[in-house]
Order: sequence, then C-alpha cells, then structure tokens
Amino acid sequence: MPNSRYTAIVDGLTAEIRDGHLAPGTRLPTHRDLAQQHGIALATATRVYAQLARAGLVVGEPGRGTFVRDQGGYGGLDGRRIAPASRVADLSFNQPLAEDQAEQLREALRQMAATGDLHSVLTQHSPAGLTSQKAAVATYLLDRGIDVPPDNVVLTAGSQHGLDIALRVLTRPGSIIAVDEITYPGIKLLADDRALELVPFPSDPGGPDLDALAALCSNRRVAAVYTIPTLHNPLGYTMSRQQRGRLAEIARRCDCALIEDGTYAFLEPHSGPTMYALAPERTLHVASLSKNLATGLRFGFNVVPDQYISRTKEAVRASSWGTSSLVTAFVTSWLTDGTVTRLEKHRRSDARERQRIAHDVLSGMNYHASMSSYYGWLRLPDHVRSDHIAHQLADDGILVSTAEAFCVTTHPPNALRLALGTPLLPELPRALHRVRQVVLEAPW
Ligand SMILES: Cc1ncc(COP(=O)(O)O)c(C=O)c1O
Repeated sequence: MPNSRYTAIVDGLTAEIRDGHLAPGTRLPTHRDLAQQHGIALATATRVYAQLARAGLVVGEPGRGTFVRDQGGYGGLDGRRIAPASRVADLSFNQPLAEDQAEQLREALRQMAATGDLHSVLTQHSPAGLTSQKAAVATYLLDRGIDVPPDNVVLTAGSQHGLDIALRVLTRPGSIIAVDEITYPGIKLLADDRALELVPFPSDPGGPDLDALAALCSNRRVAAVYTIPTLHNPLGYTMSRQQRGRLAEIARRCDCALIEDGTYAFLEPHSGPTMYALAPERTLHVASLSKNLATGLRFGFNVVPDQYISRTKEAVRASSWGTSSLVTAFVTSWLTDGTVTRLEKHRRSDARERQRIAHDVLSGMNYHASMSSYYGWLRLPDHVRSDHIAHQLADDGILVSTAEAFCVTTHPPNALRLALGTPLLPELPRALHRVRQVVLEAPW
C-alpha cells in the first residue's frame, strides 16, 4: 500500500479525535474492520493504531479493543494552564502508569464483582479507615522509614487532601507556614484558601538555606515548616542526614510543627531518615499512592503524632467524612499482595530511564534534576521569557509549567519545570527535543 494512504488514514483519525468527532472513550473499529473499511492490509491497520497510540490519541486494551484517549487531561496545578492547540505531550504534570495497570484494575474489579464484600464497599467506615486498612499502610511504611502503630495512620484522598488536613490541624487564619521559596504549588492553593501566610526561605537545587530558616523561625511565630526532604518538587534536591537533623533541631528550638511531604519519597527509598523518625512528636507526614500507583485513585495517608490523632480524624470528618470504601478496599489489597512494591520498582527504573533521556536531549542547557526523580528544572537564558516559551510549546501541543506556579516570592526565576512521567516513553525524546529547539531558537 502506498505510504500516502496509510498517512491519510492516520491524519483522518487524528483530526476526528482532536476536533471531538470521536469522543474520549469511543471504541474504534477492530483492526480487521478498519482494514476492511479502508481496503488495506491487516498489518497496515495495526500500524495505523500503533501510530495513533504513540501520539497518545488512542489506547489499546487487550481483549477489548482500541479506545480514544481522553485528551482533556489534568486541569493544572496553578489553575491557569494554557490550553494546547493539540495534545502531543504533557510535560506539566506527572501521571506515571505502567502498561498493565488498566488490565490489573479490570481483573481486580472482576474479582470484586465475583467474590468481594460489596455490602462493605457501599457503607461508610470510620473517618480514619478500618484498623486492618491502617495496619496495611503501617506495614508498608516500615520500608519507608516510619514505624508506627495503625492508630497513628489516618487515610486520606491523596496528598493534597492530606496537606489540607494537616493545615486544618496546625493552623488558624493568619498562621505562618515557612516554605522553600520554590515549592509544590498545591501548598500555595491551600494557604490562599485558608488565609495562611506563606513565608519563604531561600532554596535552590542544592537544598534549603537552613540558616535563613532558623533566623525566620526565631524572628516570627511559625506554626509549621512545610518540607519535601526527599526529591523536592520541583528543585530535585534530597536533604542529607545532617540537613534533616538540623531541620529537626530548628523545629524543636522554635517549637513549630513539621509537615513532611513524602509523595515522591518512594523513588529514593534510602535517602535518609524521615523527618517523622527524627522528630516524631511534631511531624505530620503526608503521602499518597498517586505517583506509585495511580493519580486517579485518590488514596493517601497522614502519619501523625499521638497528640494530633483525634484532631486529624475530626479534620477528615469535616472535609470528607472519610475515604472511598471501594478505592480503599482495592488499594489496601494491592499494598498487602505486593502490587505496590512491584509498581514502585518499575517506577524507579522508569524515572531513571526518562531522566537519562532528558539529560541527553537537554545536555549543555541549564537543566537540574535528580536521576531518581520524574521532574527537572530548566533555567532559561536571560533573553528568553518562560511564558513565551510555554505558549509556543503549547501551540505545538506540548505542555510545560513555568516557575511562576512554584514560586512563593514575587520574582519567579526564569525557568520551566518539566514533568517527565506522563508521556508514553517513545514520545518523550521528541517532546524534549522540541523544548530544546524552542528555547535555543528563541529570538534575541
Ligand atoms: C510534592 C507533592 N505533594 C503533593 C502532591 C499531591 O499529590 P496527590 O495526587 O496525592 O494529591 C503532589 C502532586 O504532584 C506533589 O508533587
């Protein structure tokens, strides 16, 4: 078959998906039917779908067929995400997934339908979770450097919910939270919402300036320090044992709490003691299974000192009554049967592979990232404006975040945060090459 025919079919389907004629979730003709419809060979039909899958437009599900992927995507951490003209690659938000995960969920749903306790998943449980569920999390946490009884675990609907709960427990309107000057944008949203004052201390890819933090905590009444000690998002630093010890000492001396965000810590499991282990009397450890299992499931947990257990449960009740019984049932079974451990192993090698690609494609540029992480920080030359670059890339269907979303001061650095975990692996080099090209060819 002439190549132009194959290209025409790919282009036709691409246009129908992008303009919405083929809605997300639509089941496409089987390979055989597509071949018949267009009078092409079966192998060519297979190539057509493979090409569309590489572009992230369709997904093949073994035994079920080929489906149009949801192009809507995530709403963006800063809520001001630029709508892409067409979707090629999302480098703005990490949603890593292993290939077999949809199939694994299907199998779990099948088993649940056949033999599960459906009455139990239809009913509301205790706001913190059942003891058996919290015990599954507590056992999992042993390998993450946290040794607590199930009672100190409170289930949440993900880390963002967990952070909200921690802030409800530790603050009232006007309270001060100390944060890295570049930090995870979700904390900015929450501080805004709860009328808290975020006071930044300097930090860069080498780590936080703890002298500045110590001075800040001495001069002002800081209710809590928000910290991401392992694989800081977005700067990529991992604090040394000594830095962690110093942070614990500062918190003790100034009598403030620590909110430790461990969402990405599984990617560097031996990175040093958790802040919870170093300062168990004042640390609220917040984490989830969003990046190691799936962002869409919305499952997380807070680990809290005894003094905060009942207030944390109250905060969960006030915000949501508790987690979804269905999701909790699935996730705790995956925690206990080794599925989560297996996926974490996969993620660790996947992140390294993606970082190798990024370091290779962006070599010679001002790119900082830990080889273990799913993100990197790309400093731009002075003459290039990060928002112009982001817009230009969006026109090409590539989403990136500018430093502004992560910045707590009024002078954001001229940088992009690149999230590497969402595009299909074969698509990543092309997207990063385009980033390189757009930055390097930006007009003087
Ligand atoms: C550092 C950090 N904390 C928290 C979250 C929120 O995670 P979740 O999806 O579990 O709410 C994210 C999400 O990207 C993150 O990067």
